Amino acid sequence: MKVCVLGLGYIGFPTALLLADAGHEVIGVDVNEAVVERLNRGAIGDEEPMMLNLYRRASERFHAQTQVPYADAFIICVPTPLEKDMRVAGLNYVKSAATMIAPKLREGNLVVLESTVPPGTTAKLVVPILRSGGLSTEQFYAAYCSERAIPGNVVYEMVHNDRIIGGKDWQSASKAKELYSSFVRGTLHLTDLTTAEFIKLMENTYRDVNIALANEFAKVAEDNNINIWEARELANKHPRVEIAKPGPGVGGHCIAIDPWFLADNSMCCQLIKTARDINDNMPNYVIKTVKEMVKDVENPTITILGVAYKGNVSDARETPAHRIIRLAENEGIRVRCHDPMVKRFETELESLNDATYNSDCIVLVTDHDSFRTINPLHLSMRSKNLLDTRNCLDHDMWVGAGYTVKVLGNAQVLKPVMEMDAPRVKDKVLVAQRI
Ligand SMILES: NC(=O)c1ccc[n+]([C@@H]2O[C@H](COP(=O)([O-])OP(=O)(O)OC[C@H]3O[C@@H](n4cnc5c(N)ncnc54)[C@H](O)[C@@H]3O)[C@@H](O)[C@H]2O)c1
Repeated sequence: MKVCVLGLGYIGFPTALLLADAGHEVIGVDVNEAVVERLNRGAIGDEEPMMLNLYRRASERFHAQTQVPYADAFIICVPTPLEKDMRVAGLNYVKSAATMIAPKLREGNLVVLESTVPPGTTAKLVVPILRSGGLSTEQFYAAYCSERAIPGNVVYEMVHNDRIIGGKDWQSASKAKELYSSFVRGTLHLTDLTTAEFIKLMENTYRDVNIALANEFAKVAEDNNINIWEARELANKHPRVEIAKPGPGVGGHCIAIDPWFLADNSMCCQLIKTARDINDNMPNYVIKTVKEMVKDVENPTITILGVAYKGNVSDARETPAHRIIRLAENEGIRVRCHDPMVKRFETELESLNDATYNSDCIVLVTDHDSFRTINPLHLSMRSKNLLDTRNCLDHDMWVGAGYTVKVLGNAQVLKPVMEMDAPRVKDKVLVAQRI
């Protein structure tokens, strides 16, 4: 089959390669010429495990270009940002992709929308645009099939996760199932277009609301002088309870955005909006805590450890670090940042040593694995304070190295040990280095 994938980003590119690996002839289309040139050159980075091998196997049957060709099937993977001022879905990229496909659409072709959209978008917006090429609705197949893969393990999950396919009609759903079953090993479940779009939003909203609840628990725990991390672990021993981890806020291209798409068409999304507000306000809570920790320091400097929206990825889209940095700067606090994975960020990223030099507080925002092996004895801080918003570091070790440690959600502030405990601390640091 000849397949055209529109939008060669986080989702479209691996999808195109998996289809090519399954034996299809795949033309990837992107409006960004630099992306097309980079992918044809094979410069794909090594962040996603299995991508390089997949590319080596599939590149013979993959080619990128800026123009939409004639094809048997078209898959749309273009961005659907949130228009922040209005808090509505920005569907211009989807409209433009459908407009590019319309003149190339021939009888019996299949068009699948993968982009995350408000319920009803494929039927009300995409199908009418596709019809503008001259075909009637009955002459082509249309489906919606969103992706559930997690950044950092995209290729594996694209193959192994179950997927939901919504069809304009049963034949459309079946056609799409035939295409995806060429590389998906998970189960493909069929439904109608709007239900499939709705399911994608429900999934991400469910996670956002649960994180908001965890964040609320963390703040209430501090008010009650207890440790949320211990309480959460014990509560999760209940067979039907699964409380998420609290943190400095929710980022990424999906969870921080998609819940608003559900609110596009409905007046009854109070809980969903409240959850968004709680998560969006966690950076304020982080900064309130930081201010308390450096209250005795004149002209304080803080170091943000990790600006990616989550651990072990280079993606900083919608990261809570943005808001934490801006709020700190508005308080007159100087901010320096370190992230070994992120390549581009609006605030300068420095080496660990430079970012911590003469700093007064480390604020761990992202739980990259590499942070666990940082040796606190090697840092030249002016004041030794650590705020761990993810509860991911070895607090005994940091306290032993002379740091005052505060963990988000734990009312108790850990203070440095006495000099005589130093040998024990050194041993711990050495153990941490060996890991
Ligand atoms: N990133 C994720 O983890 C994830 C997961 C599930 C769903 N999604 C959804 O998938 C969609 C794509 O997300 P992404 O993260 O891959 O986006 P992305 O920004 O990484 O890539 C999108 C690409 O589409 C290109 N593009 C824009 N308009 C185009 C057009 N008319 N024709 C061809 N190319 C065009 C852009 O140049 C860009 O290279 C979004 O709706 C997103 O919500 C993303």
